[in-house]
Amino acid sequence: MTQKYAVVLAAGQGTRMKSKLYKVLHPVCGKPMVQHVVDQLNKLQLDELITVVGYGAEKVQDQLGKDSHYVIQEEQLGTGHAVQQAESILAGKQGVTIVACGDTPLLTDETLQNMIDHHVEKEAKATILTAHAEDPTGYGRVIRGGNGQVKRIVEQKDASEEEQAVQEINTGTYCFDNELLFESLQNVSNDNAQGEYYLPDVIQILKDQGEVVSAYQTTDFSEALGVNDRVALAKAEKLMKQRINEAHMRNGVTIVDPAQTYIGPDVTIGQDVTIYPGSVIEGPTIIEDDVTVGPHSTITNCSVGAGTVVKQSVAADSRIGERVQIGPFAHIRPDSSLGNDVKVGNFVEIKKASFGDGSKASHLSYIGDAEVGSGVNVGCGTITVNYDGANKHLTTIEDEAFIGCNSNLIAPVTVGKGAYVAAGSTINQDVPADALSIARSRQTNKEGYASKMQPNKKD
Ligand code: UD1
Ligand code: CA
Repeated sequence: MTQKYAVVLAAGQGTRMKSKLYKVLHPVCGKPMVQHVVDQLNKLQLDELITVVGYGAEKVQDQLGKDSHYVIQEEQLGTGHAVQQAESILAGKQGVTIVACGDTPLLTDETLQNMIDHHVEKEAKATILTAHAEDPTGYGRVIRGGNGQVKRIVEQKDASEEEQAVQEINTGTYCFDNELLFESLQNVSNDNAQGEYYLPDVIQILKDQGEVVSAYQTTDFSEALGVNDRVALAKAEKLMKQRINEAHMRNGVTIVDPAQTYIGPDVTIGQDVTIYPGSVIEGPTIIEDDVTVGPHSTITNCSVGAGTVVKQSVAADSRIGERVQIGPFAHIRPDSSLGNDVKVGNFVEIKKASFGDGSKASHLSYIGDAEVGSGVNVGCGTITVNYDGANKHLTTIEDEAFIGCNSNLIAPVTVGKGAYVAAGSTINQDVPADALSIARSRQTNKEGYASKMQPNKKD
């Protein structure tokens, strides 16, 4: 078996983005571009993946973490120079090295695999992934000889008028014989319009040495899209969104208006799920069968059980059970866990709280730092008073308890199993199981008070 390595180029500052954020960290469908590229490469069972980082190095390393090894390119002297930085790890190793750029987020593992298969089949020493571009402006052009064989790649800024008319472009993704790659890089010069060491020059160097150089053309131009500025970033977003949404629709998800539905690349969705417009689903969220999302709901890093409805609501970093009713206008904040058949109604905020099966908070409540058992009824306007100005405390509401409307539960406090809290109570001591707790001042009625105050008032 041939060894397979990959080098991802991610050291350029990306001045054309005009951004404080490092170029390859700009997100497409909620995920940084370089993470898209690395995730696709990692599907290929590589023996080694190295990301070349430079400007903003720590942030790229924080993002990719253990998904990659790293080498630093201190000065950004060009893509050829960037690949050379990986020599310390890859020098002298036999095998195939894939080079990809951190700014081509739409590249897929399928196309990468096709390129490798082509490379092996042609017994090539270098294979370029190319694409046909309606508008090739800005890309390197693939120059072929009369026999159709690839001769070299010429950059936009170095190309003659005739060369600029060529519509076959270099996607910036390649396969190389590893040893020949690093040998050839030593012969690359920076004698060009940008004064940079161009990686594509390796093609001509290998060709001149009589080695087999090949090109594999992808039929999908979106895979080639290199994001250098925010106009291209918006194009990438649109194409990625379309790709993701179409895949879900083919798998049995109804997306009422795909143009207004934003689903991240790592979201899993079951069958017969309906998503209404204005919804955003991000992170490694899992949505099971028969769920309804939206309109206008945002779900981030959650698992959502079958048959649940999330209307006009926001949920993050939480586990939501089956047949749960959320919203309209509810907010499920991180570390919450809702059992099955729970209801979280309008203007209810839940934070770091668990709800057992069948419990309900239907209107206007804040339940934070709480453990709520099953079959509990949290009346309208109930507040868990979790914060004393310094620390957060836990409220426990045991199974089948009934909390009357407009109650304050001052934590730490426990309401026992099956207990009742009278409406309007401020509870600061534990309520025993099965008890009724009333913690409010008694009502006094002063008969005839109004007419004494205003004796001349007519009815
Ligand atoms: C490059 C290719 C061009 C191709 C296009 C595809 C070269 C010289 N040109 O052009 O043929 O059509 O990609 O999108 O390779 N980088 C470094 N260190 C550097 C310079 C760049 O790590 O010193 C990284 C960048 O962060 C980026 C990638 O390499 O992720 C490509 O660099 P970029 O400047 O975007 O090259 P293009 O001009 O797009
Ligand atoms: Ca680029």
